[in-house]
Amino acid sequence: MGERLRDKVAIVTGASRGIGAAIAAHMAEEGAKVVLVSRKIEGLQAVADEIRGNSGDATPIPCHAGRADQRQDMLDQALKAYGKVDILVNNAATNPHFGPMLTIDDRAWDKTFEVNVKGYFGMIQLVAGHLQKRKAKGSIVNIASVVGMMGAPMQGVYAMTKAAVISMTKTLAMELGGVGIRVNAIAPGLIETKFAEVLVGNEEFRKMIVDRTAAGRVGQPRDIAGGAVFLASDESDYLTGDVMTIDGGWTLA
Ligand SMILES: NC(=O)c1ccc[n+]([C@@H]2O[C@H](COP(=O)([O-])OP(=O)(O)OC[C@H]3O[C@@H](n4cnc5c(N)ncnc54)[C@H](OP(=O)(O)O)[C@@H]3O)[C@@H](O)[C@H]2O)c1
Repeated sequence: MGERLRDKVAIVTGASRGIGAAIAAHMAEEGAKVVLVSRKIEGLQAVADEIRGNSGDATPIPCHAGRADQRQDMLDQALKAYGKVDILVNNAATNPHFGPMLTIDDRAWDKTFEVNVKGYFGMIQLVAGHLQKRKAKGSIVNIASVVGMMGAPMQGVYAMTKAAVISMTKTLAMELGGVGIRVNAIAPGLIETKFAEVLVGNEEFRKMIVDRTAAGRVGQPRDIAGGAVFLASDESDYLTGDVMTIDGGWTLA
């Protein structure tokens, strides 16, 4: 066990699998008490059991990140469990439409923005409000994507929401810097998770990605966790408004 997040309480959304589960596990290894958030309790419970099995402290709380009432309920339960929150990792996102941008329907558009933009923003409003009430320092880590910084055929609206996440990261970093709340983003490249299985599972596509990636492989959830711990910890005390690209060098080509 490390100590880099000792005495800190972290909320991690989308923590039942993939990148969120890896971040939650690594934060717990570094001494944080971790609030695990996603819609379904089963996946959260499994991650909580694993963290506790490794002597960590985790509390699963089901919550749809796009629903304001559920977000408030989740924060209330988190405060009941641990008394405070210091770190928020906004990671739960969705992409219901894979296809040319103009072919998206209203429902898929609304769902993508509801979870990926309003969900992230609403979580920050709650946690930043709590931190300001406590007059405490805090760190917010938004999981964006490399597609938020480039053209992204077939994932256009999802990419727009990630560009919005990068924009909110920069503005909020400026607006909250004075009260000691840092806001940073991580832009992952392709990471092997359920979310990306259509892409990673396609041999031809996978080879195309690997050939362009300096690191010579597809990313794994754990590759993102170290960056998240650094951004959450006091080691990055003078870093805010940054977008940390973790893509094995894919965007260099
Ligand atoms: N994988 C990649 O290649 C890649 C690349 C760049 C960026 N990203 C970003 O990384 C983040 C995590 O992606 P991932 O690949 O780890 O995905 P994943 O394996 O599919 O996990 C998604 C997580 O989000 C939760 N979730 C989904 N909708 C939710 C909602 N409305 N409210 C609360 N929780 C919700 C899921 O649990 P429930 O089903 O229980 O809700 C699950 O825990 C996302 O922000 C994604 O955009 C991924």
